[in-house]
Amino acid sequence: MLTVALPKGRLQKPALERFARAGLTPDEEPGSSRRLIIPAGAGARFVVLKDADVPLYVERGAADLGVCGLDQVLESGADLLTPIDFGFGRCRLCLAVPRGSSVSAELGRSLRVATKYPRLTSQWFARRGVPVDLVHLAGSVELAAVSGLTDAIVDLVETGRTLEENGLSVVDELLQISARLVVNRAAYRLKVEAMLPLLEALG
Ligand code: PRP
Repeated sequence: MLTVALPKGRLQKPALERFARAGLTPDEEPGSSRRLIIPAGAGARFVVLKDADVPLYVERGAADLGVCGLDQVLESGADLLTPIDFGFGRCRLCLAVPRGSSVSAELGRSLRVATKYPRLTSQWFARRGVPVDLVHLAGSVELAAVSGLTDAIVDLVETGRTLEENGLSVVDELLQISARLVVNRAAYRLKVEAMLPLLEALG
């Protein structure tokens, strides 16, 4: 039995299309019920979860493989194989500030930065030797800089519309992102007979 971690968000539809082309289709459409485990024929099943939880489920072996963005792979710090870059879900992790302001911290205090990505953000600032006061938020991150909670944000930019409509602009890019296939290291070896044909079919 192969267990596939399927993200709930924007990556779900293109991920399901790729699995369908590889011959793996859930027996019922995810979202048509509240079921979180959906069989896919006799030899596989999908588990439906938040994008950010995919790396953990796969690293711990509760799922053998899964789909998530490179942002979630790196933010989780999970030890995973990432054999396939699917190419969809393209976006950028960016540092943005209110239009017209600068990122320079006031003398005597760190730059305040709101983000859903504390690990990636603190690593990026640490590499530059810039002290940072991180505010870890769950969503609507742009609001933090607009409302004065923080000086800047680090968040995903896809079309740029959310930044534009909230009066923010990009000052730097931390990471280019796309959806990845993530695979549990042990499952890759122990379930090789089921895993390899699927990986080959997925590309
Ligand atoms: C994401 C991201 C940005 C927005 C970027 O938020 O955090 O806010 O999409 O997309 P854009 O550049 O095309 O406007 P999401 O919609 O996932 O909601 P959230 O703010 O609650 O995390």
